Amino acid sequence: MSKYIVIGNWKMNPETSSLAEKLLASVSKLSVSLKKTEVVVAPPYVFLPKKFKKTKKLSLGAQDAFWGGVGASTGEVSSLQLKKLGVSHVILGHSERRALGETDAMVAKKADAVLRDSLIPVICVGEKERDAHGEYLTLLAHQISDSLAGIQKRDIANVIIAYEPLWAIGKNATGVIDSHGLHQMTIFIQKTLTTLYGREVASKIRIIYGGSVDGSTAPELIRQGNVTGFLVGRASLTAKDFGEILKTVDTA
Ligand code: PGA
Repeated sequence: MSKYIVIGNWKMNPETSSLAEKLLASVSKLSVSLKKTEVVVAPPYVFLPKKFKKTKKLSLGAQDAFWGGVGASTGEVSSLQLKKLGVSHVILGHSERRALGETDAMVAKKADAVLRDSLIPVICVGEKERDAHGEYLTLLAHQISDSLAGIQKRDIANVIIAYEPLWAIGKNATGVIDSHGLHQMTIFIQKTLTTLYGREVASKIRIIYGGSVDGSTAPELIRQGNVTGFLVGRASLTAKDFGEILKTVDTA
């Protein structure tokens, strides 16, 4: 397993399949020289390549997956179908999906399906806002335990937790997290996971960070933020910006 992992969440981008192909080809090129970093590219379903060759350094991700192998679920795509296309990682419970009504219970059910199909769920958690009394920490702990509900101890080491505070995500972000703040949050998340699964198992769960990661914020966050990688939105949409992050992480 690589020391670091960087996941590019393309969200509903780019506009055409030829642009998607170009971007994937560029990222694939960038990944070749990486020594200790695994890259995952998560395009929209429609742009998942038909023939993807996973390498040690480059894997394919999806932005969601539904439970059930096949069946009457209009508009959904199952983890099994994704697996057949070469997908190995599935982002679940992204805040943009939660904003549309996805609940912790749905995330837990999807995570269970993803794990059963031997894929890696990347479960997004994070507070909407912070309050002076630290109530947000209690909410975050609940979000974590409810989103992981049902995941057995033997499977949990395959889960990646993506800590993404909503206030730091996207072009409307109202704040930035510094490495000290991130470090504190990862310790809190580890403690929550320890309560759920015990120290030994909890220490194996990878925690990554997402929220306006770019070439300028990545160096400090990876060196002092106590994370094993990033979930990147906007900066994953150009090879230049994404390449900068990959290089930073790989040489951290
Ligand atoms: P951003 O998005 O990097 O554009 O802030 C991160 C995310 O939503 O995963």
